[in-house]
Amino acid sequence: MQDYKTHYQNSLKDPESFWMEQAKKIDWFVPPQQGLSTDEKGFYRWFKGGKLNTSYLALDYHVNNGRAEQTAIIYESPVTYESQSYTYQEVLEETELLAGLLKDQGIEKGDTVVIYMPMIPQVVFAMLACARLGAIHSVVFGGFAARELALRIDDANPKLILTASGGVEIKRVIQYKPLIDEAIELARHKVEKVIVWQRPFVKAGMKEGRDFDWAALLKKSKPCKYVALDATDPLYILYTSGTTGKPKGIIRDNGGHAVALKYSMTYVYGVDPGEVYWAASDVGWIVGHSYIVYAPLLHGCTTVLFEGKPIRTPDAGTFWRIVQDHQIRVLFTAPTAFRAIKKVDPSGVKHQRFDTSSLRNVFLAGERCDVATYEWLKQLLEVEIIDHWWQSESGWPMISNSLGYEAFPVKPGSATLPVCGYDIQILDQDGAEQAPNIDGTVAIKLPLPPGCLPTLWKNDERFKASYLSRYPGYYLAGDGGYKDEDGYIFITGRIDDVINVAGHRLSTADIEEVVAAHQAVAECAVIGVANELKGQVPLGFVVLKGGVTISEEDLEYELIRMVRKEVGPVASFKQVIIAKRLPKTRSGKILRSTMRAIADDRPYSMPSTIEDPAVLDELKDLIALKDISQE
Ligand code: COA
Ligand code: AMP
Repeated sequence: MQDYKTHYQNSLKDPESFWMEQAKKIDWFVPPQQGLSTDEKGFYRWFKGGKLNTSYLALDYHVNNGRAEQTAIIYESPVTYESQSYTYQEVLEETELLAGLLKDQGIEKGDTVVIYMPMIPQVVFAMLACARLGAIHSVVFGGFAARELALRIDDANPKLILTASGGVEIKRVIQYKPLIDEAIELARHKVEKVIVWQRPFVKAGMKEGRDFDWAALLKKSKPCKYVALDATDPLYILYTSGTTGKPKGIIRDNGGHAVALKYSMTYVYGVDPGEVYWAASDVGWIVGHSYIVYAPLLHGCTTVLFEGKPIRTPDAGTFWRIVQDHQIRVLFTAPTAFRAIKKVDPSGVKHQRFDTSSLRNVFLAGERCDVATYEWLKQLLEVEIIDHWWQSESGWPMISNSLGYEAFPVKPGSATLPVCGYDIQILDQDGAEQAPNIDGTVAIKLPLPPGCLPTLWKNDERFKASYLSRYPGYYLAGDGGYKDEDGYIFITGRIDDVINVAGHRLSTADIEEVVAAHQAVAECAVIGVANELKGQVPLGFVVLKGGVTISEEDLEYELIRMVRKEVGPVASFKQVIIAKRLPKTRSGKILRSTMRAIADDRPYSMPSTIEDPAVLDELKDLIALKDISQE
């Protein structure tokens, strides 16, 4: 077993040599001669000059090297009662044909393609087909509403959208096509073509001349070969929530991404090629991009595409059944999934029906793992549970127990130690390192390792302002935390207005924009409050316009509908409180962090800048009346 500490020190002392060594583990068309460089804008770039193709590495390489008959994708869909497997050869054939289809539709290197699809195999083919051509995909999560999709269309400017006629949410069919039609209507950028995968249980209406049937076009298409791309060419854009209503377009390159993900499978997850790896998430999130699609396939593993929920599809035994049926080695999901299972099956009766002995480890991320869930799961499964911390921006783990090295003892509540390549520091207000056990801001000394975002899509200024300007020479992660005397890092939560709802990253500013648009609302604040199941949920505070009379119940109903329609059901916006006024500083800034502390019943210090301290007592009374723990 290799020594983590030596590797980690080497990765910081000489990142160039460390990552050039790792880069040898992928099959470049032209290997890079250089690890790290800076581009014309002064941003760090990895492996400039190297040439590769991510779709080739994920498929052709394995087919050419003895894995053609190995299962690449297992599709498990308890909501449609389907279960299917695809070998590497089959996925390659599907991807080649779809790439041919896209090429016939005029898609070429550098074009952007939006993908808005449920968890079906075609979404994986779509991502890999884009990658094959050098087209930049942008997958948008299906739980986002038309307005959110339109925002992303306007930023990414896709030539074409790939979609499906619908998806299934537990027992409810979601029609995707009306959402696509509405988003195209709302967007300023006009999308020329929409290609629709028709699912048997829901038929999409088609607009003549713009919408085309995926299956019919495939029949006419010819397999298409991969193109050689520069390591620094973008592979995809993934939009993520920031502190404003406008999402940030995270760019991922091809070279750094492939090297980093390959490294992570061996050294972080401790997985071997040929093993079955299951990330129970959605391709619309970074976990899905990296650990449902790219990393397992780059590493020659079998990946599982799960169209369902941990409970009610059909019950809380679903996860355990899939682990047993497919001999899953590593399972990765958000803690909220296990909280959901624990809530309905606290004593693990459903688990007893299945043999989950194939499981070596469970990895958790997306939100803080509470100690109670950690203990419950560890006792139930009798394997080590690894909480690890990372973000859309990094694309792969930043703090983890790296299982390819010797494992460290777990301290519940901590994601353990920095992953190789990440010089993670806890800084105080002035940028000095905090002493052990003192809370501060999580920052990462530049350069970031391969795979991390080089900048934001068409927005270098926002990239600098959001991540680089707070502490020069460091990347600002947006989370708070502390290190203990052994260097273990404990993440305590976001330091901005980003919230995590059932492992889904959302912006309260985005929800606030919608609430503020209601005709009765004079001003509002949306904050994330603690929730037993989902970790956090948004809670709206509203001050009515003078002269308006509306009951809290009616306003709540209308606002919930508006947020579902404009942001999407995934926001889980379910509660509204009407207040006479909001707590503000003398300069008029809403004291959101104090409101959060009050709602979560946490201690807080009276802000010295508060306009009128009495407003906090009013707020406490209103919150007590509402009983926000119900939702
Ligand atoms: N398309 C359309 N609607 C969607 C959707 C999608 N892809 N995904 C979620 N929604 C809807 C849900 O149907 C739900 O609607 P409802 O309010 O009408 O019930 C709403 O958005 C909220 O969804 P969700 O947060 O998933 O709540 P849930 O009650 O359906 O399930 C959990 C709760 C905890 C079981 C579920 O969130 C879960 O399994 N999370 C696990 C981890 C995960 O996927 N994390 C992502 C990043 S790692
Ligand atoms: P996303 O970009 O959607 O992956 O969300 C990233 C954010 O989720 C981080 O900035 C954290 O706030 C939170 N997060 C992810 N993993 C963890 C974890 N293991 N512990 C605590 N918070 C986490």
